[in-house]
Amino acid sequence: MSINIAIDGPAGAGKSTIARAVAAALGFIYVDTGALYRTVALHAKRKGAETPEQITAALQTAEISLCFSEGTQHVILCGEDVSGLIRTPEISMAASVVSAIPAVRQYLFDLQLELAKQNNVIMDGRDIGTVVLPHADLKIFLTASPEERARRRYLELSAKPDCPPMDEILQDIIKRDEADRNRAVSPLRQAEDAVLVDTTQMDQQQVIDHLLGLCRERL
Ligand code: C5P
Repeated sequence: MSINIAIDGPAGAGKSTIARAVAAALGFIYVDTGALYRTVALHAKRKGAETPEQITAALQTAEISLCFSEGTQHVILCGEDVSGLIRTPEISMAASVVSAIPAVRQYLFDLQLELAKQNNVIMDGRDIGTVVLPHADLKIFLTASPEERARRRYLELSAKPDCPPMDEILQDIIKRDEADRNRAVSPLRQAEDAVLVDTTQMDQQQVIDHLLGLCRERL
């Protein structure tokens, strides 16, 4: 039986950086499920699909798979590695829109479940502990204040020439969280048996050490 760790939380909480480091320390694979929703959004955009009906229809031509090389996840869309193309503010927002469509969630559900059955995984997203892996061996809900999450995102993006101003990043984060928390299907929420980790006052290494401690205690 594989070991499954679920990490959920709002946008910019540092889930991917932390999950990647913890997975490397444990020898697990790290599955970033947000990348799957982002890839559906990219596919919908390429197909000119805008309404929920059009996006649902576009799923028929979306061939999405994940592959892993040296601990790094790559998303393949119809034979093309789109891992770099899906990291834009526009695709972040579009991912939030497509993720509210039940057919999209259903489409990605089996893929996520299969990965968790076949491998020891740390999977991060919004509904991993509540919907995808309700029997996960350890569930963590990772969060931080919106201002701190925006500050970290800004630092991450500031090396890029088209980095948006901090206030725009904060507004995007607030808007996306609200949409993710209030959608009808699989909304973002903390599973009852998840451990809440608020990282507002913690640095990256402290969070990694804290999570590794939880893994040692509970797995
Ligand atoms: O985690 P990331 O910011 O890449 O996710 C992009 C969007 O995908 C989120 O804002 C959310 O709407 C959606 N998502 C989701 N369920 C997941 C992972 C991501 O709805 N398990």
